[in-house]
Amino acid sequence: MSRVIGFIGAGKIVDIILTALAPRLAGDEVLVWNRTASRAEDLALRHPVRLASSIAELAERSDWIFIAVKPHAVAKVLSEAALHIREGSLVISMAAGVSLDALRSHFSASPFLARIMPNLPLGVGAGMTAVCLDQGVPEAQGQALLDLFSSAGRARIVEERLFDTVTALSGSGPAFAFLFIESMADGAVLNGMDRQMAYELAAQTVLGAATVILQAGKHPGELKDIVASPAGTTMAGIHSLERKAFRAIVMDAIDAAARRSRELNS
Ligand SMILES: NC(=O)c1ccc[n+]([C@@H]2O[C@H](COP(=O)([O-])OP(=O)(O)OC[C@H]3O[C@@H](n4cnc5c(N)ncnc54)[C@H](OP(=O)(O)O)[C@@H]3O)[C@@H](O)[C@H]2O)c1
Repeated sequence: MSRVIGFIGAGKIVDIILTALAPRLAGDEVLVWNRTASRAEDLALRHPVRLASSIAELAERSDWIFIAVKPHAVAKVLSEAALHIREGSLVISMAAGVSLDALRSHFSASPFLARIMPNLPLGVGAGMTAVCLDQGVPEAQGQALLDLFSSAGRARIVEERLFDTVTALSGSGPAFAFLFIESMADGAVLNGMDRQMAYELAAQTVLGAATVILQAGKHPGELKDIVASPAGTTMAGIHSLERKAFRAIVMDAIDAAARRSRELNS
């Protein structure tokens, strides 16, 4: 059945979502409203969306309303949308750190609410989207939301109390992985490899390692042991990483990002 899906906001993440989910949204009408109209117009040149003339129009017409503005702007756009959102509509916020309680506070009779946290690789069909459904969201709607984001990677339900951790792990995580891949490639360049070749080998290696973990469902340590033969090259590299507290450095990075997320949200 065809739905009307509204996006309040037309920033980077909406562009990524519209690219990634295009095949799944093909049968739906997509409405977009953005504070800066030219940005929404630019989006409409690249995606089959219609521009709403106001937040009120978008809210009245949409079955699902994605809130995709900066966290500090959520209260403002919801105060404009609240009166116009129909009973039974689903409001899905992707604003980091805006709780379900904060979303609910804008409504006297609350619509169905959800939070999601997608990430950058969604744009290439390899996203990780965390979904938190408020109490009362009909199972079919929750499942449809999970199915939509699963079509461009993975999507799973995560409790709201873990959303700062999600922000650190799958939200910021791609940047940490980019740093790791760049560093691996630099090590190869140091040893005489051409830079483009080094990026290709490093990126494919990380992709392959991640795929093995997800497909085989094995513990990463068990897989590491398979690669690291006695007195071999891998063990020499692992020894070097461990002497410099590699694991603690990475754990600290996730912990720092999660703490920063909590700080920004308090
Ligand atoms: N990028 C990601 O990977 C990612 C992942 C998960 C969640 N998110 C969340 O998605 C939201 C948008 O992020 P983004 O990366 O798309 O950022 P962005 O490209 O900087 O876009 C920001 C959006 O917020 C709007 N906005 C900012 N201040 C506003 C205000 N006072 N009133 C109305 N609208 C306002 C902007 O409108 P104008 O064009 O008029 O400035 C624009 O539509 C954020 O809440 C972020 O936490 C992003």
